[in-house]
Amino acid sequence: MDFLDLPQLLSAAGVVVLPGSKSISNRALLLAALCDGVTEIRRLLDSDDTARMLEALRDLGVACVRAADGGWRVSGCGGRFPARRADLFLGNAGTAFRSLTAALALAGGEYVLRGVPRMHERPIGDLVDALRQLGADIDYLEKPGFPPLRLKPAALRPGGVVRVRGDVSSQFLSGLLMALPLTGVETTVEVTGELISRPYVDLTLALMARFGVRVERRGGQSFIAPAAASYVSPGVFAVEGDASSASYFLAAGAIGAPAGAPLRVEGAGRDSLQGDVRFAGALAQMGAIVEMGGDWMSASRPPRGLRGITLDCNAIPDAAMTLAVTALFAEGETRLTNIASWRVKETDRIAAMARELRRLGAKVEEGRDHLAIAPPAHGALRAAAVDTYDDHRMAMCLSLAAFGTPLRINDPGCTAKTFPDYFERFARAVTPAPVIAIDGPTASGKGAVSARVARALGFHYLDSGALYRLTAFAAREAGVDWADEAALAALAAGLDVVFDDGCIRLGGKDVSEAIRQESISAGASRVAALPRVREALLFRQRAFHRAPGLVGDGRDMASVVFPRAGLKVFLTASAEIRAERRYKQLIDKGMSVTMPDLVQELRERDARDAARAVAPLQQQPDAVFLDTTAMGIEEAVAFVLDLVRDRGLASG
Ligand code: DC
Repeated sequence: MDFLDLPQLLSAAGVVVLPGSKSISNRALLLAALCDGVTEIRRLLDSDDTARMLEALRDLGVACVRAADGGWRVSGCGGRFPARRADLFLGNAGTAFRSLTAALALAGGEYVLRGVPRMHERPIGDLVDALRQLGADIDYLEKPGFPPLRLKPAALRPGGVVRVRGDVSSQFLSGLLMALPLTGVETTVEVTGELISRPYVDLTLALMARFGVRVERRGGQSFIAPAAASYVSPGVFAVEGDASSASYFLAAGAIGAPAGAPLRVEGAGRDSLQGDVRFAGALAQMGAIVEMGGDWMSASRPPRGLRGITLDCNAIPDAAMTLAVTALFAEGETRLTNIASWRVKETDRIAAMARELRRLGAKVEEGRDHLAIAPPAHGALRAAAVDTYDDHRMAMCLSLAAFGTPLRINDPGCTAKTFPDYFERFARAVTPAPVIAIDGPTASGKGAVSARVARALGFHYLDSGALYRLTAFAAREAGVDWADEAALAALAAGLDVVFDDGCIRLGGKDVSEAIRQESISAGASRVAALPRVREALLFRQRAFHRAPGLVGDGRDMASVVFPRAGLKVFLTASAEIRAERRYKQLIDKGMSVTMPDLVQELRERDARDAARAVAPLQQQPDAVFLDTTAMGIEEAVAFVLDLVRDRGLASG
């Protein structure tokens, strides 16, 4: 899928069972592979990053088998991989790349490790430098300091003191620590520079301990891997829910769950090994109502709203991204500091976040290692299409902006890295603004009915036909032929139009009347048959889907633009009565037309709208049929409003 359009959301609720933790899954897989005996890993995360790790372990000769109950059985190789040569592709899985580099550099075989182009831009020199101190033989195959790498058998010199830098990625230290027991010799690791993302190192040590190896810690920067230690299978190992993935749902709760009905996540909580559960504390600082149990957390919106905070995010680098988007819903500025590591993740996350939040209308200050975000000064976020940079967390974070505006998320599939069904789960946890789709043929009265229904409910109103009329009108003004699809699509995409309480302005000029001329009606019907024009206008229409709700009228509201509309109405009348209505309108405006011409023109347009290949005018199976041949507008409005109330689509 190229994009996903989200309507503006009203609220969040419910219970989300978290997918397994990525950090724990990939560490557990490696440790299970390194130990003696079989380990059964339960609730392993099923995603791209874990798939890369599983593939790599299999390429190394480690048997990893999925059981019928969904658990994985990993047959450990006792620290000696059966495959002495392998060429491994690790995608963009940092956890797999760094930890396997360390383990394989000390494993005595010949291995090549590569990844996607972005992986080849993410530094690994600090880890290689540390491994070389132990005698490892490692070549850079392309750029010094970066993957891909070739590892060769070498005479190792374990023991003593190894220094590793801790200020670029904590994964270098984690990888080194997990690999050191393979040498069988006591080795001290000293971290130089500030150790960032410290909770991830704590997680590594906790998991090593579960697999029987205890690392001694001296102060904050020294770690002693013991002599003659080898990994022992715990038998069964259950992966916790992912605390970073929890952050999106907790933030959704803090923004959109009413106090008293919080959004709850299950699978990680107070007893978690993962540092990112501290995200809940950060939300609480912003004023959210947060609760935590042993393996669950919940959040809801505070009655007085969220407020901006200043926070050192060193300990929660991933979950802190979620705060950047939550900041759009807080009063005042939110300042996230000590996040330099964002620049070497799946993308340069500081730059990417700044760009996308600005697109939505936020005021963003971007620094070398900080980000300060303030919501738009006056009111609503801007509807926009946002980019995700092949970064799962960008996509998941940005989904939260939908509480403030409809938006288009480009390449939503990138969440597969850690959370393949994120958007399905997100959709289940949130309630979008209601939408009422009213389709029907020309002059059926649907425009007048829709506008009045919208007014009665206090909803927004979308006259989608106006967009096709505007396109035809702008084309005529610009001398563009009504058959020139590419030029028309470009015009449609760039329409500078403002709908302002019944008045339609194009480039600042009131064109409300001009676009209703019969010649433009004919042109609109022609340009509307062109797929690229329809595509260019799609998001523009969905951008009307705002709180508190929308009434949209047209031909494909129910089928294409809002297929999940809470109410769909197909509104029509006989051709004769429609021609009569049109005749009256035009005569009132002083235009000269004849009835036979009008009936003829109307039939032609109906035929074209109904017969075209894309989005033809058709009643949807789930639409309510409303024939207004013998009905006045007020009666039709009352009929639709009754349906709205029956379906509980409007509050009050
Ligand atoms: O509703 P209207 O008469 O203003 O629409 C003008 C033209 O645009 C009409 O010929 C059909 C086309 N149209 C469409 O194809 N899809 C829509 N959703 C709305 C209008």
